[in-house]
Amino acid sequence: MAKNAAVIGHPIAHSKSPRIHNFWMGQYNISASYTAVDIAPTESDVKIPQLLANENLAGFNITLPHKERIISFCDALTADAKAIGAVNTVYKDDAGRIIGTNTDAYGFWQNIVAAYPNFSVTGDKVCVLGAGGAARAVIYALKQQGARQIVICNRTHKKAEKLADEFGCDVCDWGDYAELLADCKLLVNTTSLGMSGQPPLEIDLSFLPQDALVNDIVYAPLQTELLQKAAARGNKYVQGIGMLLYQAQKAFQYWYGVLPEVSDALQKEVLSS
Ligand code: ATR
Repeated sequence: MAKNAAVIGHPIAHSKSPRIHNFWMGQYNISASYTAVDIAPTESDVKIPQLLANENLAGFNITLPHKERIISFCDALTADAKAIGAVNTVYKDDAGRIIGTNTDAYGFWQNIVAAYPNFSVTGDKVCVLGAGGAARAVIYALKQQGARQIVICNRTHKKAEKLADEFGCDVCDWGDYAELLADCKLLVNTTSLGMSGQPPLEIDLSFLPQDALVNDIVYAPLQTELLQKAAARGNKYVQGIGMLLYQAQKAFQYWYGVLPEVSDALQKEVLSS
């Protein structure tokens, strides 16, 4: 019997992670299960150490609101987790130490290159909408990929400035980014705008170069209005669901030593109601 895995968060009932990991456990004949564990913020100091002490767990994923709180329970952090300032995956190393890592940056970039293997931002200008937790992982990945200039546009200017100072980026005012897109190689939406139930992302893409790629990390709906606009004017685009699948891929590898396949069948399973 292999060790189990889990995701902790609050709320957690709608997490798609159990579907992803249980699908792979079936595909790779790993006799274990992946469950969702609801841990309220007030319970975290008791319940997180209990989970970490569980010998039958290979590790677990961490989602809101515990991605920062978990750090103090880890014995060590990977460079990715340190730079992003949040942990979305814990695993145990050979010595049994609890290692906190973050697979969101990997998930973001892998999603793009899986669709466009030759796509690169090395030496290029890119534009990131939003300055929340997801933006941190995206910006870290873009820095690693050698982007020359990263411009952050966020409704709350101060948050964009803080992130820009930390990662060496530029800032532009929210709603002022139309012309800024003129020489962008990549536009990424990391805000919640355009998500089902949220306000739309109102954006004019007319300055965006024809060969630029557009990525939305929103995946409900799968084809957001932003992606529809990009497709309508002939731009390459990548849907957000892949970031979720690829961040999971890396976590699975940490726990079970196999880099599982991100297949159409998996995506279908995850999106089925
Ligand atoms: P996540 O961890 O998914 O990035 P988050 O940290 O709550 O979530 O960040 C949400 C992002 O969406 C932020 O950039 C937020 O902008 P603010 O920093 O100004 O709050 C952005 N966002 C959410 N609702 C928005 C709205 N109605 N208009 C513009 N930006 C919005």
